[in-house]
Amino acid sequence: MRTAAAVIMANEAIARDVYRMILKTDLGQEVQCGQFVQVAVPGYFLRRPISVHRADAEGISLIYRIAGDGTRTLSELKAGETVDLFGPLGSGFPLLDEDITLIGGGVGVPPLVETAARYIKAGHEVTAVLGFSDREVVICKDELEALGCRVIIATMDGSDGYKGTVIDAIEKAGLTVSTVLACGPLPMLKAVAERYDGYISLEERMACGIGACMGCVIRTPDGDSRRICKDGPVFRIGEVEL
Ligand SMILES: Cc1cc2nc3c(=O)[nH]c(=O)nc-3n(C[C@H](O)[C@H](O)[C@H](O)COP(=O)(O)OP(=O)(O)OC[C@H]3O[C@@H](n4cnc5c(N)ncnc54)[C@H](O)[C@@H]3O)c2cc1C
Ligand code: FES
Repeated sequence: MRTAAAVIMANEAIARDVYRMILKTDLGQEVQCGQFVQVAVPGYFLRRPISVHRADAEGISLIYRIAGDGTRTLSELKAGETVDLFGPLGSGFPLLDEDITLIGGGVGVPPLVETAARYIKAGHEVTAVLGFSDREVVICKDELEALGCRVIIATMDGSDGYKGTVIDAIEKAGLTVSTVLACGPLPMLKAVAERYDGYISLEERMACGIGACMGCVIRTPDGDSRRICKDGPVFRIGEVEL
């Protein structure tokens, strides 16, 4: 991990309050799927952690939702400006030698796209079950289909795909779930962990992002602890208490 200046190639809205930032940086070649970077936001002391959506030798892309002032400032940056990155950080998703089911919710979906690309490149079948509040915030569907994934959509208001949660969609579609790689809101991850085997990525609030401040600690079932930023954010289901 290291700091790197990145040039913004594009920074555009792709859904309601959701932006994609394409960055030219040599960090891209070091990224494992499911890892994140800490982005320095002009005027803010703490960096904001954002998962890597796609990565290659040319650079990386990030997909982020405006959640507060920091991400709003990020959304106002223009092509040609630079941002400072620190990363890549975290454990990332494992590359297993098997077919997988990706389960994503909201802005937990972006890190699953690079993950899907790497599994498909390795010759595996990838099914993606993606949950959103409504059709205005559906992201990455076309991109995952273009990569070769089977994509199942769930929206809470039924405006796209199955009505309800990702679990409802899996049941209604009669899907047989293979090993799961999941990222999204905590209630979704809890529901996934109660039913399936695999790995989850916890995008909790962070401060230092490098394992130094203990601000992101989570308990294990045997009373031990893990730092989400350094030991995770990806954990095997059952390794930590949700
Ligand atoms: C490892 C990791 C990866 C992440 N990847 C992405 C990503 O790919 N795309 C994306 O849109 N977001 C992602 N996030 C969440 C993102 O970091 C926060 O939304 C962002 O830091 C908020 O900054 P802000 O200044 O805009 O909001 P703040 O003013 O700091 O907070 C605004 C609101 O957002 C809530 N919030 C802040 N951080 C989080 C968080 N981590 N999770 C849930 N709610 C939060 C606060 O409680 C508050 O209600 C990730 C977080 C982590 C830890
Ligand atoms: S954010 Fe500081 S230890 Fe994890």
